[in-house]
Amino acid sequence: MKIIAFGASPSKNSINKKLATYAATLFENAEVEVLDLNDFQMPIFTVDIEKEIGQHELAKAFLAKIATADILVVSMAENNGNYSAAFKNIFDWCTRINAKVFQEKPMLLMATSPGAKGGASVLGIAKNAFPFYGGNIKANFSLPSFDSNFDVTNGKISNPELDNQLKEVIKNFSIV
Ligand SMILES: Cc1cc2nc3c(=O)[nH]c(=O)nc-3n(C[C@H](O)[C@H](O)[C@H](O)COP(=O)(O)O)c2cc1C
Repeated sequence: MKIIAFGASPSKNSINKKLATYAATLFENAEVEVLDLNDFQMPIFTVDIEKEIGQHELAKAFLAKIATADILVVSMAENNGNYSAAFKNIFDWCTRINAKVFQEKPMLLMATSPGAKGGASVLGIAKNAFPFYGGNIKANFSLPSFDSNFDVTNGKISNPELDNQLKEVIKNFSIV
């Protein structure tokens, strides 16, 4: 079983990438590939650039990665209540090739932030929007106050209650 995981953030030390990586490792019998959005850097989408260059190769590459997944583990960075610009740009380029960007792959959708709401705003936006783009969201999870609840040295959730909550979500995750 192949898991494609990513933090929807361009930050080198993305806390969402850390959370997505940890969550992906909790699935049993899984081969995990963690994507880095920096490998899919494209100019900011405009219809004018699209007219010039057509479909961007990196958008094709991102869609091809998703196509290889049995499960998607995605953790959304919250920037001003919304998607990071880097994620939105990749998303926009991809939709011009295949509007069903997430290709109906069973998805664990998450968010975390240093704040107590744990990216609840962007998580809500993604939960509502992704199903229109082939998102097959099977479960979701938000980790509040990342700095207090995640041990970056060990790459694991340090708060036992929240760790158990995520483990329960993954135990009950069904791909059918
Ligand atoms: C431009 C900008 C806007 C932000 N807006 C929010 C926000 O609306 N809500 C929030 O909880 N955190 C916000 N943050 C803090 C981010 O949650 C924090 O930078 C977090 O590390 C982002 O996740 P990442 O590390 O995966 O990129 C913002 C950060 C930046 C740089």
